[in-house]
Amino acid sequence: MTLDELREKVRTCVNCPLSSTRINAVFGSGNPEADIMFVGEAPGKNEDETGEPFVGAAGRMLNDFLAASGIKREEVFIGNIVKCRPPQNRDPLPAEEERCIGYLMEQIRIIDPKIIVCLGRIAAKQLISPDFQVTRQHGEVFTRDGRLIMATFHPAALLRNPSYKSATMDDFDVLYDIAYNRHFVLD
Ligand code: URA
Repeated sequence: MTLDELREKVRTCVNCPLSSTRINAVFGSGNPEADIMFVGEAPGKNEDETGEPFVGAAGRMLNDFLAASGIKREEVFIGNIVKCRPPQNRDPLPAEEERCIGYLMEQIRIIDPKIIVCLGRIAAKQLISPDFQVTRQHGEVFTRDGRLIMATFHPAALLRNPSYKSATMDDFDVLYDIAYNRHFVLD
């Protein structure tokens, strides 16, 4: 399957009840051959309205960290665990994540990034470990299915808790070094 074929499947998906309340499914966007793939939680209001990931306040926060670390947004791919907005921006339900995760797995297979970056708890628990703790394990690099993966704070968490910003900057610096070959991971 190509990325465009998958995009069409997601656009018309009715696998779970979120499809009946969404305006747009948010497939994700960016470089289809990205070395870095960011994975957030689920679309919010702005993303639902535009069909694009991370375009609201959290998106502007993410843009700031990309710019500060020297990573170009157009070089990376940005997606989410769940493709449709949960009502009132509640956490996605386990059943919603389960119905949707296959799309992300296919995106990862097609894009084949060098490293995945989980933005926040929901993505890290799904993709790294169910008992992942962002405050304790952010910035650590793991291997899953033969691929590098790490987590950092969700940009929306940084809006609420600016004290996590400097740790997040350190995580982005680690990411830059790995993605652009300035660092060797030994495990
Ligand atoms: N928060 C997310 O987790 N994903 C988005 O796309 C926007 C906000």
